[in-house]
Amino acid sequence: MFAPVYLDHNATTPIDPRVLERMRPWLSEQFGNASSRHEYGRAARRAIDEAREQVAAAVGAHSTEIVFTSGGSEANNLFIKGAAAWYRPGIVAVSAIEHPCVMRPAEQLARHGWTLRRIGVGAEGRVQAGDYSAVLAEKPVLVSVMAANNETGVLQDVASLAPEARKAGAVFHTDAVQAFGKIPIDFRALNAAGVYALTLSAHKIGGPKGAGALVMDKRLELEPLIAGGGHERGLRSGTENVAAIVGFGAACEFAAERLAVTQRQLSDLRGALEDGLLRMGAMLFGSGALRLPNTTYFSLPNIDGETLVGQLDRAGYAVASGAACSSANPEPSHVLRAMGIEPGLARGAVRVSLGAGNNDKHVQGFLDTLRETVAKLHGMTALVA
Ligand SMILES: Cc1ncc(COP(=O)(O)O)c(C=O)c1O
Repeated sequence: MFAPVYLDHNATTPIDPRVLERMRPWLSEQFGNASSRHEYGRAARRAIDEAREQVAAAVGAHSTEIVFTSGGSEANNLFIKGAAAWYRPGIVAVSAIEHPCVMRPAEQLARHGWTLRRIGVGAEGRVQAGDYSAVLAEKPVLVSVMAANNETGVLQDVASLAPEARKAGAVFHTDAVQAFGKIPIDFRALNAAGVYALTLSAHKIGGPKGAGALVMDKRLELEPLIAGGGHERGLRSGTENVAAIVGFGAACEFAAERLAVTQRQLSDLRGALEDGLLRMGAMLFGSGALRLPNTTYFSLPNIDGETLVGQLDRAGYAVASGAACSSANPEPSHVLRAMGIEPGLARGAVRVSLGAGNNDKHVQGFLDTLRETVAKLHGMTALVA
């Protein structure tokens, strides 16, 4: 298979071979149902218990605070809809740059008697203090602000936003899918600050697709999205995907071990990438704010992002235009729109997200290929003009 250099780790990550090894028995001879009262079942239950400990340890939570789900999308839906079911309809406030799996459920609530408030962000993609205070003054019931944005990598100061939400009487949640594995996350400290629940996903940290968790304060009341046999303390019924959960646990263990090194290596690589991009006249989005160490989101003058991503793919580099989940959507990114980026520039947006397998050669090769591709595209527009 033609295998372009992979520079799209915010979309998903390659599975860590050690994770795959840990998963393998649970896809073959260890096939028990964790609810069964015989050795096959008990073995599966023990494996899930161990994974729960590993996930909890990676984010400074207690194992009883972990609810396994099919991924980040489900965990976000579980919080938004599950918490809403316990309250009389009121205000649900989410930042204007949330991932669709927070935004769409909030919009669903708005079709069922709730009022949706989108909290504005500034030009660098950070929640605007004035906007946040104004929304909190309306006494929202639920507030969700992501820890790190999937497109820009920009971090929100969740530890400062949560106490304000608590003071206003709101239940605060954060989508930490992108932050997890790239920067430290301490649920104990965040929970003390007023974060009631936090979302994780396995496939962004070298784990399998289809596993994630809602890490939650046990005082939080949630209505399950999936009711049935009462799995996951009744919050998520369905026979557990043991292999995926084991893989998630293993990925957490390995991600926690390499976190400090990953952060340093990725930010050095990203520095080299951005120096090169700036020399080419690129505009970097959110670069004035604290960001994840691996993410660069940029636009080059008079270059369409979708076209550029297609050309780079053919030339051997896998990157994203806008959010991976909405790449089929030609509309400019809602994140860049919320940041006030002019639509022409936003249509040029390309995201490079580095990961554990990347090195200097990948970055230099990418910059060289980008330069050639852009020259070619400019040549084509000059011919058309
Ligand atoms: C910020 C953010 N939240 C949630 C998700 C969804 O996670 P999953 O793919 O596990 O459903 C993603 C995936 O791209 C994401 O980037």
